[in-house]
Amino acid sequence: MSINFEEFKNQAKKILNINFDGYKLKRVERRTESLMRRHNVEDFEECIHLLKTNEEFKAAYLNHFTINTSEFFRNANNYEYLQKKILPKLFNKNKKLKIWSAPCSNGCEPYTIAIIMEEMGIHSNQYEILASDLDKNIIAEAKEGIYGMSSLKNVSSDLLKKYFKPVSTEGQKYQLSKKIINQVKFEYKDLIKDKYSTDWDLILSRNFFIYLTREIKSELTQKFSDSINSGGYFFLGSTEFIFNPEQYGLKKEHLSFYEKQ
Ligand SMILES: C[S@@+](CC[C@H](N)C(=O)[O-])C[C@H]1O[C@@H](n2cnc3c(N)ncnc32)[C@H](O)[C@@H]1O
Repeated sequence: MSINFEEFKNQAKKILNINFDGYKLKRVERRTESLMRRHNVEDFEECIHLLKTNEEFKAAYLNHFTINTSEFFRNANNYEYLQKKILPKLFNKNKKLKIWSAPCSNGCEPYTIAIIMEEMGIHSNQYEILASDLDKNIIAEAKEGIYGMSSLKNVSSDLLKKYFKPVSTEGQKYQLSKKIINQVKFEYKDLIKDKYSTDWDLILSRNFFIYLTREIKSELTQKFSDSINSGGYFFLGSTEFIFNPEQYGLKKEHLSFYEKQ
């Protein structure tokens, strides 16, 4: 008889170095099973065998499990509020801003911030952007800065012309300008296990909490809040909310923005 999901989870945790317990387990099980169907994998035991022996399958599993879809200007009204209200307010109080995109996936999010800064006429030495993720493959992709139309659908034709060049050999793919790429520093970080550095003026953690259990979400909200300077901001995904933000030293300002008290 093959192993059950509980046993699969314990073995996969060691192979992948991921603590599944922080994630919504029903969802992880569904995602695992759908990937197994796609690859004609019979049962959890065979899945473990493939995770151990087949690097390609292991990468596909990680990719499927973490869902690293992202877009430039995802939920554009939030970025409009960021550009018009939040960033001017932060620059009023600070000469230089420290911004962290966690997790950043394929880089659309931190690069969107760099494009906004450029559009606002902010000099590159007035801000730094750190972007981190658990998935090393997606970080490598992010550094390349090549995107298909699914990531670019919210980018206006003006901005597309200004900051991207078509990649001739790859059809509908565009390469982001080096100037924007150079504004973002990428690093590997497990946001559940690793320590956070402090002194951030703006942290974006968007479309990540949706995968986590209530307990871990609460723990990480506190970790993020502790890392933000007083008067700084925490920016979530448009379907994510913090209930009782005061408990974490945060105050809801508007849409998905919380100000650190
Ligand atoms: C849906 S993407 C969000 C990307 C971007 N913030 C956005 O909203 O477009 C979720 C990302 O979370 C990353 N992730 C999942 N678990 C993580 C963890 N424990 N630590 C760091 N990143 C993690 C995945 O690799 C994936 O790239």
